[in-house]
Amino acid sequence: MSMEYSDKYLHLGEPVDPEAYVICKYKIVTDLDMKQAAAAIATEQSTGTWTGVSTLNDDIFERYHGRVTAIEGDVATIAYPEEDFSLDIGGVPQILSVIAGNLFGLEGLKGVRLEDVDFPKSMLREFKGPKFGIPGMREALKRPAKPLVGTIVKPKIGLPPSGYADYIYESGMGGLTNSKDDETLSNQRFCPLEDRVVAIAEAIDLVKQETGHIMMHAINVSTNGERIVEVGERAQELGASELMVDVITCGFAAVQALAEDPSIKLPIHVHRTMHGAITRNKDHGVSMRVFSKLVRMCGGDALHVGTFGVGKMKGSPKEDLANQDACIDPKMPYKPVMPVASGGMHPALIEPLVKITGTNIQIQAGGGVAGHPRGVRGGALAMVQAVDAAFEGIPFSEYAQTHKELREAIAKWG
Ligand code: 3PG
Ligand code: 3PG
Ligand code: MG
Repeated sequence: MSMEYSDKYLHLGEPVDPEAYVICKYKIVTDLDMKQAAAAIATEQSTGTWTGVSTLNDDIFERYHGRVTAIEGDVATIAYPEEDFSLDIGGVPQILSVIAGNLFGLEGLKGVRLEDVDFPKSMLREFKGPKFGIPGMREALKRPAKPLVGTIVKPKIGLPPSGYADYIYESGMGGLTNSKDDETLSNQRFCPLEDRVVAIAEAIDLVKQETGHIMMHAINVSTNGERIVEVGERAQELGASELMVDVITCGFAAVQALAEDPSIKLPIHVHRTMHGAITRNKDHGVSMRVFSKLVRMCGGDALHVGTFGVGKMKGSPKEDLANQDACIDPKMPYKPVMPVASGGMHPALIEPLVKITGTNIQIQAGGGVAGHPRGVRGGALAMVQAVDAAFEGIPFSEYAQTHKELREAIAKWG
């Protein structure tokens, strides 16, 4: 790797103004000297390339070059001048192509992982953040303090709208506050989106009429970029109470387009399917924490952040707490995003989960509801009982003595 300008990108130990730079932390795996490796990233991602170029004059370099400001072990801090970014047209796609672009392909580096990023307030102010977030969702559901508790309709594909609506009705009668489409459900012939929206809205209304209980269901409107607002609007018009976007497959811009469209007045549930291809390798890729910050900037109201070492998704409590923190950190000038724990959850896991996450969490189970011996309603009741017990701080063993659905769930899975 030839890097004529590399040393000029090193500013080790110099103070860096967080209001003037986008500051990134990269973990680097390399046989090169760490300084050289970090300089290669700063070079490639700002004013340089693999060789010196006659067109890079001192003024341009001085103003726009990325600075390696610290190296601690295998982690390098690189600060990119705020002027390197173009939010009006470039948006998150351009941010990503600077902070998480070509660098991943550099031959001289064995691996690079973007662990974290911090933006100047002036840049954050260009984004609106969630319209609803935790306070808005709690308000809509009339659930001020307890964790939200939901389900993902299973099987994830195959049910027709009527069977789907029965599932939602049973979930609502069991007391769940949330339900959602699974990430692979769209507008397949067996369950067309419009028919599904209408059937679900009727089921949710029926639950409300019969019991007063409020729930919301996220319809998966993931689609091609130019159609997402149209599909979201149509779902809203037909009675959807929440929308869902698969953010990695659709792009951050898809979440932002929906969230910032004035006609869309529903919370947006953000699923992260495919993130594991990017976030899972500890030595290469992008951390979920970075994606969590971007989702919050773009206006996601709820986001899958992992299962905290408790459910089926890879991720330790520490990593997932870092994701949760990005959703709720008061230092970002937005409403907090509702963190969602989803994947392999079931009632018996709620006690250990809530000990880690606290109560600002949406807990969801697909198999852990539909697999209950008493069916969906029994599964929903068991989830709700588990959340109530965890919220009150009552040990499950004790609560289960008087709550048979929870007892049966523990007997099956605990
Ligand atoms: C699933 O669809 O099984 C999971 O929701 C994926 O969960 P994750 O978003 O936590 O990876
Ligand atoms: C999701 O999309 O969150 C899931 O499909 C989780 O499903 P599970 O609870 O059956 O693992
Ligand atoms: Mg799923």
